[in-house]
Amino acid sequence: MKILVTGGAGFGASNFIRYMLNKYLDYEIINLDKLTYAGNLANLKDIEDNKNYSFIKGDIIDSELVNKLASQVDAIINYAAETHVDRSILDPESFINSNIVGTYQLLEAVKNNKNVKRFIQISTDEVFGSIKEGLFKEDDPFKPNSPYAAAKASADLLCRSYAKTFDLPIIVTHSCNYYGPYQFPEKLIPLFITNIIEEKKVPVYGKGDNIREWIHTDDHARAVDLLLHKGVTGEVYNIGTGNEKTNMEITSLILEIMGKGDDMIEYVKDRPGHDWRYAIDNSKIKALGFKPEVDFREGLTELVNWYKNNSKWWQDIKSGEYKNYYNKQYGK
Ligand code: TYD
Repeated sequence: MKILVTGGAGFGASNFIRYMLNKYLDYEIINLDKLTYAGNLANLKDIEDNKNYSFIKGDIIDSELVNKLASQVDAIINYAAETHVDRSILDPESFINSNIVGTYQLLEAVKNNKNVKRFIQISTDEVFGSIKEGLFKEDDPFKPNSPYAAAKASADLLCRSYAKTFDLPIIVTHSCNYYGPYQFPEKLIPLFITNIIEEKKVPVYGKGDNIREWIHTDDHARAVDLLLHKGVTGEVYNIGTGNEKTNMEITSLILEIMGKGDDMIEYVKDRPGHDWRYAIDNSKIKALGFKPEVDFREGLTELVNWYKNNSKWWQDIKSGEYKNYYNKQYGK
């Protein structure tokens, strides 16, 4: 099978590409990535010479390029997206372009290239908005609260319409928050681990009682692999684990694993429109055979070691352009 993975130099997709190349020795993967701030070829250093892997620098908004690449593959997995909520509050425009217009161009390419037998849209549980009790199901209404979530919801609706109107082989996923190696240190878990390694405090928004559901990137890759081969065309799947944690629980666990105390916590101004809880029902993908395998404490412990052993990777990021964002975001 030949697969086009978009946004392959980002966090989720680079882990997916590594997983697929290790598992399927005869699959070929083309990685199309624009290399924005979060797309980093260092994420794929260990596989750049793999004969089944190739990299193209380009934008999913470029219809000519996307059509050319679509004509060469059996499947497209769209990971390319702007994903950070806080950045979508500071600068929504890039979210509209990459997440909505980019997805539209990919859908057009799938429409034009009948050799593409599967298109998977990687999306998020954030499209549903916040939920006080219970779990979001795949067909619950979208109530996105951040510009990021609204842009993803718009793209997901475009996918639905292209599946229905043009009878295209599309699957949409809604995933809970992922964690794992190579995550850009603007997100909660890598920011907190790397800050602690640097002996800096960790900025907890509000009281830290917001709840997220977490999945390791290995489990997420397993889920997408399963959908690629066994998912039903036109369907939507939540990719969840049931592993719900408050931000304080995660902060305490990271501090405990790293042998530090609560004095490392700094409570900062809350995020505007901060969703209180995300939680999704994963029974549909479970019925297809999905079972998360990574234990959260073990996954986090391994991850702390990964960030300790790969300090050059994140120090290069933290000392670059990212510093401006950090200072703006945390008022330093
Ligand atoms: P984040 O990793 O940005 O993911 P998302 O907002 O898409 O779920 O944030 C996870 C949670 O952690 C969220 O409730 C916001 C909170 N958070 C902090 O408390 N401090 C921080 O510095 C960051 C980045 C996030």
